Amino acid sequence: MNARKTLKINQLGHLEIGGADTVELAKQFGTPLYVMDEQYIRDMCRAYSDAIRSDYNGNGLVLYASKAFSCMAVYKIVQSEGCGVDVVSGGELYTALKAGFPAAKMCLHGNNKLQGELELAAESGVGLVVVDSYTELDRLDALCAEKGRKQEILLRINPGVEAHTHRFIQTAKTDSKFGFSIADGTAEKITAYALAKKNLFLKGYHCHIGSQIFEKQSFALAAEKMLAFMADMRGKLGFTATVLNLGGGYGIWYAEGDAKQSIADYTAYLRAVIAAVKENAKNYSLPEPYLLIEPGRSIVGEAGITLYTVGAIKEIPSVKKYVAVDGGMFDNPRYALYQAKYTAILANRADEKPTERVSIAGKCCESGDIVCADVELPAAKEGDVLAVLSTGAYNYSMASNYNRNAVPPVVLVKDGKADYIVKPQTYEDIVRNDVIPERLR
Ligand code: LLP
Repeated sequence: MNARKTLKINQLGHLEIGGADTVELAKQFGTPLYVMDEQYIRDMCRAYSDAIRSDYNGNGLVLYASKAFSCMAVYKIVQSEGCGVDVVSGGELYTALKAGFPAAKMCLHGNNKLQGELELAAESGVGLVVVDSYTELDRLDALCAEKGRKQEILLRINPGVEAHTHRFIQTAKTDSKFGFSIADGTAEKITAYALAKKNLFLKGYHCHIGSQIFEKQSFALAAEKMLAFMADMRGKLGFTATVLNLGGGYGIWYAEGDAKQSIADYTAYLRAVIAAVKENAKNYSLPEPYLLIEPGRSIVGEAGITLYTVGAIKEIPSVKKYVAVDGGMFDNPRYALYQAKYTAILANRADEKPTERVSIAGKCCESGDIVCADVELPAAKEGDVLAVLSTGAYNYSMASNYNRNAVPPVVLVKDGKADYIVKPQTYEDIVRNDVIPERLR
């Protein structure tokens, strides 16, 4: 189980999250159900912010990467913790604005921002736009000229750090659709181009080396390369960057083999990064930049679990036992996409020892629809409540209506009390945007 107090087994032998009995939650709200522990999210926001305060004189800001889990309530939580947010689409930006999140504390990302997204950002006064193409620089400059405003920007840089993670979630290796490479000189060229834009105010740089990374040295190396680049740009173009955004990517515990991390471990990552920033700023005689970080997964990942009800059980003699649940790749596509590993627990019999190895199958019409492969469980029976752990990040945010299944609701628990933060989708919601043209009626 996770390294903190979110999850425990109560006297009834039931799994508890944030003081709420998961069996009761399943009864009250039905399954499949995403459950998020509010305190966990708050603790993580505070831990990162505290490290910036204590080790960097508060000269920076934590931007929660909301692609990990976006809904109005989560923007409220991170806002009340004093964080900013990273938004990566018009939809995330709109959701944050709807929740009353101050646009000035938002940072807009995207490798192909649409005109409408740039317009919404400019109109709402988004604090920073991280520019990732020439097209975007030109469009944003023209848009700002039209609106008579100046937009602060960062440039997305590829420092060429290859971190050890799944290749689809690595983002700063040489062959990447993201960023401008330092190594091939394109990062310098875009800097010169951006500095010439009248309506854009280049503040500095951004990089993000990938996701689910455990090695502190990869982050420190990225920081080192970014400061070396900043020094180079000061020398070559006379431009001194004052903002450095080092992205997110800190890994979390999913299953056996992953490090179980305490809050202190997470802040240790950040402290190592801060130390590298300080040391390199000193070596290059650069002013210490205002530091932004964008953790997503590590803030919400272990805060969340998904509850399912066990249905069909099928044993293929001497091959495998499948335990099917009422969810699947429509609520969690991460096994299908990345062969992601998860830990499953029978929530209503959480005190029983595992006796068999099974695969948890979803209910979609697709053989690859597995929620977790090869997990140890006590013999599951129809009607058992099954909890999959560490589903708070990139599950709800990557859910779909595949097979016209409804996206499960999300409840937020705090001190044993649970409230919807995303209501259940109904069949009516599923057909809401369907239209039958006249000729088919
Ligand atoms: N900043 C930028 C620019 C990013 O691209 C990302 C993640 C983050 C911050 C947050 O990274 P985190 O702290 O969450 O690792 N769907 C994949 C993950 C894709 C991550 C994309 N970018 C998954 O389910 O593992």
